[in-house]
Amino acid sequence: ADALAETIERTLVLVKPDGVRRGLSGEILRRIEAKGYTLAAVQLLDATPELLAAHYAEHEGKPFYQPLVDFMLSGPTLAIVAEGQGVIPGFRSLAGTTDPTAAAPGTIRGDLGRDWGLKVQQNLVHGSDSPESAAREIALWFPGL
Ligand code: TYD
Ligand code: MG
Repeated sequence: ADALAETIERTLVLVKPDGVRRGLSGEILRRIEAKGYTLAAVQLLDATPELLAAHYAEHEGKPFYQPLVDFMLSGPTLAIVAEGQGVIPGFRSLAGTTDPTAAAPGTIRGDLGRDWGLKVQQNLVHGSDSPESAAREIALWFPGL
């Protein structure tokens, strides 16, 4: 890879099963593209327990872990690799804070999410939180990319 390619940042975005179920995949892709990020890969797939155990390894043992995994197994997920300058914090900023009831208007979670009965895990999207997480998560969801 040349020096220019190495500066292009990539992040893993997931439209979680609640977002796919509610027909918000297009709206979320639209926001990513409208911000000026590029779609490098998009795939609708059913997550497996093995994939989710690896993806959410940092949360294993926390009280919300099993409900989160069960929710992520409840339907298909749209996995996206988005790229662009600053896309890792940039997409987290588009997504808004974790709890959709607290997320600011203007964000994906703030505009499109709400309280579904103490189910914070139903917050529509995932976005990688660091370059290390992004590389690890992209390799998990898009082996060979
Ligand atoms: P986390 O990585 O802390 O949040 P984020 O998605 O904003 O990076 O947590 C991962 C997911 O776990 C989060 O999107 C929703 C779920 N979760 C809960 O269900 N309850 C909680 O208290 C927390 C912190 C997270
Ligand atoms: Mg996280």
